[in-house]
Amino acid sequence: MNNIVWHKTSVTLAERIGSNGHNPCIIWYTGLSGSGKSTIANVVDRKLYERGCHSYVLDGDNVRHGLNKDLGFDDVSRVENIRRITEVANLMTDAGLIVGTAFISPFMADREQARKLAASRFIEVYVDTPLAVCEQRDPKGLYKKARAGDIPHFTGISSPYEPPVMPEVHLRTASLNVEEAAEQVIQALIEKDIIS
Ligand code: PPS
Repeated sequence: MNNIVWHKTSVTLAERIGSNGHNPCIIWYTGLSGSGKSTIANVVDRKLYERGCHSYVLDGDNVRHGLNKDLGFDDVSRVENIRRITEVANLMTDAGLIVGTAFISPFMADREQARKLAASRFIEVYVDTPLAVCEQRDPKGLYKKARAGDIPHFTGISSPYEPPVMPEVHLRTASLNVEEAAEQVIQALIEKDIIS
């Protein structure tokens, strides 16, 4: 990068961790539209908040209202969507936060790139809800529109979803309620020494 020099921060991450009382990390939720990513991420976020942790959720629909409102759903746009989220989430962990990212993030290579950048601070959570269940829920009526051909590149219908192979947390939502799913994530954070 020409003529651009990294500027060191005056407050170190170690100092932030010391005052926060927990480690930062990215909780990377991935799963189909309607799988429950945002719902689970927000229940986890509430639990973290009540424990006094500094946390935040970046959500697909919300981020696409602002930072990523110039992006669509073709493959190139999705790659750029996840690239930007990865960068933002890393800045947020550098600020000492526990960041939940709730994006379909359908491509394994993009999630692996996020994992690589975050190093040990990455917890992939696969919100494993079968397509048939998501389609039956259809909370926003999008599957119906996609089946009718009104939404191009719809994940699971006309655009691929590559499931994680070895996620840190695998939430099989068919046999878990939201509370149980969120508790599994909290337990993983404890096991990985993010929170105590
Ligand atoms: S991605 O694949 O990670 O870039 O997608 P993401 O940023 O998470 O945005 C997914 C939400 O956008 C709505 N939506 C679509 N999803 C999938 N495919 C298409 N074509 C599409 N068009 C709009 C949908 O509401 C997704 O929200 P969730 O919460 O996942 O259901």
